[in-house]
Amino acid sequence: MKMIKMMIMLAAFAMVAPISAETTEDAAPADAPVTPADAPAAPATIEEIAAGVCAGCHNADGNSVIPMNPILAGQHAEYITKQLMDFKATGDEPPKRNSPVMSAMVAALSQEDMKELGAYYAKQKTIPSQITASERLLEAGKIIYLGGNIENGIPACASCHGPNGSGIPPHYPALAGQHAEYTLTQLDLFNKSERANDNEVMLQVVSRMSANEKRAVSAYISTIR
Ligand code: HEC
Ligand code: HEC
Repeated sequence: MKMIKMMIMLAAFAMVAPISAETTEDAAPADAPVTPADAPAAPATIEEIAAGVCAGCHNADGNSVIPMNPILAGQHAEYITKQLMDFKATGDEPPKRNSPVMSAMVAALSQEDMKELGAYYAKQKTIPSQITASERLLEAGKIIYLGGNIENGIPACASCHGPNGSGIPPHYPALAGQHAEYTLTQLDLFNKSERANDNEVMLQVVSRMSANEKRAVSAYISTIR
């Protein structure tokens, strides 16, 4: 509830700020007492947005401990900014990346805010997922991650996301230590074209993967340090 209130406040502020800034001085009678309630709120800083709006799901430093919410800490700034822009609807166009939750979150953010949020999370230290999986699953996932599956034409994840999962900025996101549940959800969304903001690169990769391969590679990724 607190978080939603904050978003509404931010949205309301973005809409009324330019007008009130110009008119408050003329509109108020010269002898009107200035109470703190009348004072215009200062614009929220990026740290305030991260702590007040995003922290509820991603933690203030971007190290989400909820497995369905991605860890943002240490992710490349450009990738984060791109995702925030892709979540935002422009005009009548639906957002490029479909997530009603995140679309509501970015509605009040400016392009500049999204750039600064990218830089903010990129410089936080990653605390990797602590959820464990069986050795067998991790072994199977490691083989796919590093070598792909030649028989089925699955490319090695490492070729684009790096052998240690650190990604290659600006286009290839870091994956190391991400929650397995989040990663698996994204692989399924790419597969169903419900996440289609990747120019079909990931669709090509996942369309040939079995459910078990997706599960295994997601588990392995969460353990890369
Ligand atoms: C109510 C919970 C919630 C809040 C609050 C929230 N997020 Fe998210 N965020 C999510 C979920 C869930 C996803 C995964 C969406 C999906 O399924 O694609 C996500 C995804 C993201 C991603 C994509 C990460 C990636 O690896 O692709 C970014 C970036 C992000 N959020 C940033 C933010 C920022 C910045 C804020 C604050 C302005 C915020 N989020 C607030 C729940 C939330
Ligand atoms: C040819 C290059 C390429 C290969 C190979 C590749 N990826 Fe990707 N992957 C991408 C690109 C590009 C994106 C970013 C899409 C975007 O901008 O939203 C991405 C995004 C992702 C994401 C979303 C990350 C997030 O934080 O939401 C996951 C998960 C992922 N890849 C997993 C994998 C796995 C697992 C494999 C191996 C089976 C793999 N990728 C192989 C290029 C590749």
